[in-house]
This record gives sequence, C-alpha cells and structure tokens, in this order.
Amino acid sequence: MVYISDHPLIKHRISVMRDKNTSTAAFRTAAEEVAALLTYEAMRSAEMRSVHIKTPVTEADVPMLADESPAVIPILRAGIGMLNGVVRLLPDACVGYIGLARDEQTHMPSEYMVKLPEMHSRTVIVPDPMLATGGSAKYAIDLIKQHGAEKIIFICIIAAPEGIDALQSAHPDIDIYAGTLDERLNENAFIVPGLGDAGDRLHGI
Ligand code: PRP
Repeated sequence: MVYISDHPLIKHRISVMRDKNTSTAAFRTAAEEVAALLTYEAMRSAEMRSVHIKTPVTEADVPMLADESPAVIPILRAGIGMLNGVVRLLPDACVGYIGLARDEQTHMPSEYMVKLPEMHSRTVIVPDPMLATGGSAKYAIDLIKQHGAEKIIFICIIAAPEGIDALQSAHPDIDIYAGTLDERLNENAFIVPGLGDAGDRLHGI
C-alpha cells in the first residue's frame, strides 16, 4: 500500500524544508514534525486490545495498542532526523539503526553499520526522509526481513516516482507512507524539486 499525504500541515512543513534559506534548526524541527504526522497516519490501522480498567467513576473495557513497543529503524544518517518524531508518538518503541551511504557515481548503497533489535513479533517502522532510486530503502528492508520482521512500514518525507516503483516491486508486502510525491530524479539521482541533501541539511553541513 502506498499512502501519499495531502495534509496541509505536512505540505507546509515540506515547503519550509525545500527552501534553501531555511535554517538548520527550522529544517530539523520540520523533519521531526512531518515524521510524527506520518506516524500518526501509519498507525491508523494498528491492532488494538481490550483492557479492563477502573475509571474514577466506574469500571470499563478500554482499547489500548496491541503492540506498544514496535521497532523503529532509521536509515542513517538522514533517518535519524525523523526518529524523535516517530518516538514521540510511540514512546515505548525499541530502536535500531542501519547506516547506509549512497555512492555518488553508482548511486548504490553501501552499509557501514547495522544494529537491530529483536523484530519477529513487532511492527517495524523504517524512517528515511528521501526515497530517490529506492536502492537504500530496498537494501534496508532486505536486511530487516532477514532479521525476521514481517510487518514493515517505510515512512519518508519526499518520494520520487522511480523510488516508489522500485520499492513496491522489490517489497510489495510493505506499506509506504510519503509526505509528498515529487516529479522525478535528475541525472545525479537527486529528487527534483526535492530539498537537496537531507542528511547534510539535518546535520548542519
Ligand atoms: C540519502 C537518503 C536516502 C538515500 C536515498 O542518503 O537519506 O537514504 O540517499 O537515495 P536512494 O533512494 O537512491 O537510495 P545518503 O546515502 O546520501 O546518506 P546520508 O543519509 O548520510 O546523507
């Protein structure tokens, strides 16, 4: 399933992020906020369980999240800029990391760090601001599946059509939540109009 947001609060923040004059602080804040808003949407179909409690007035069966401790695996570096936004809504989440760097010539990802939690029975949320060729997301989700995950949700701030197509054909079983869908990739496999290098902008470089 592919979900592309059309929410004004997300659109506004992505426009702030696109502006090359936006400060590092404002860029970081917007990335976290878009991540939280996308997490809110992505959790809409989360399973619930019924819990019996006492309210100050009576007793009641109330709905609670069936899984309060999903796994969140940001793709480094840039995915780290979305982590706080996701964890704000899922404060008991367990967190792992996959570090990937895309080669400037070949555009292929190379791995420099993998630290993953137990994921067999958990929903796994994978944040990365940019889905360009889709190579990094595909690579990360291959790894996550090899570690036993079954329910995987990829969330990104900006997607290119090429990235959505590649990720869907490699992993048709995952859900993709994107803040917006841009026009295309340029000759350097950068998203157009995009927002530049999200990792550099989030890290003030
Ligand atoms: C960027 C981005 C994604 C990837 C997207 O990361 O954050 O991870 O490229 O491109 P793709 O869909 O074509 O694979 P980059 O490799 O530049 O590393 P960074 O996060 O350290 O900036």
